[in-house]
Amino acid sequence: MSTIEGKVAVITGASAGIGAAIARNLAQAGARLVLTARREDRLQALAQELGSGTAWLAADISAPDTAARLLGLARERFGAADILVNNAGILRVGTVDSFDLDALTPMIATNYEAAVRSSYVFARAMKAAGAGAIVNISSIGAHLTAPGSGVYGGLKRALEAFTDSLRIELAGSGVRVGLVAPGTTSTEIFDDMKAQGQRGWDEYVTPLQPEDIAAAVRYLLEQPPRATVSRVHVYSSGDAY
Ligand SMILES: NC(=O)c1ccc[n+]([C@@H]2O[C@H](COP(=O)([O-])OP(=O)(O)OC[C@H]3O[C@@H](n4cnc5c(N)ncnc54)[C@H](OP(=O)(O)O)[C@@H]3O)[C@@H](O)[C@H]2O)c1
Repeated sequence: MSTIEGKVAVITGASAGIGAAIARNLAQAGARLVLTARREDRLQALAQELGSGTAWLAADISAPDTAARLLGLARERFGAADILVNNAGILRVGTVDSFDLDALTPMIATNYEAAVRSSYVFARAMKAAGAGAIVNISSIGAHLTAPGSGVYGGLKRALEAFTDSLRIELAGSGVRVGLVAPGTTSTEIFDDMKAQGQRGWDEYVTPLQPEDIAAAVRYLLEQPPRATVSRVHVYSSGDAY
């Protein structure tokens, strides 16, 4: 029996790509789920696919009250919140001449601030309960320096620093914290680049599939209580960084 069986997992960015794959993987392991993203139709369809142990909330994760609403829903529907996966994220790229400055605030709010806020809201509840797990989805881009990806990579690097600090603060509390850093994975995240007439990063290599990242998240979550896996980097075999 999986150690995830019966646990309540809250997954952000669950309407597509990696988040939807994490939802399917954890459902298969017997978790009860709270899914969130903005697209209600997608959440509804996934919840229907996964069955009655799935609740969902259509909300903007960058809204300051979303994290507390998610915690409230998890407690109301399932009586607990054992696992949080901060996965929601957006990718906008551009060089000094082309970066769309209107994208800056939404990127900071979604990729960094929302993950920090949700981590704190859930970490406080988990610490009080003496158990829990938080997994933040970073990127191999956190440690790459490349033209055009400074904002995205910078925010992921900040998220990694925050995640490490949270892990240390919660050491011994029963709440374990780690991150998974995906390499190039075939999802809708590259749609915006392609709409701008650029090649998506997933067109340069044979990309990973969302299921590969979901398996890494599950690996973190299935460790025995004595073990914390603090970070897993998953590269496409073609990624030569
Ligand atoms: N794909 C890759 O190559 C890759 C590589 C490294 C890291 N990552 C990271 O993996 C995570 C998932 O990305 P993905 O590739 O699966 O992308 P995706 O297919 O575009 O999915 C992104 C998810 O985030 C949600 N989201 C975005 N903005 C939101 C907002 N303001 N409020 C609520 N939900 C929001 C989207 O849902 P709605 O649009 O319905 O709100 C969607 O469910 C991200 O953190 C990304 O940075 C991806």
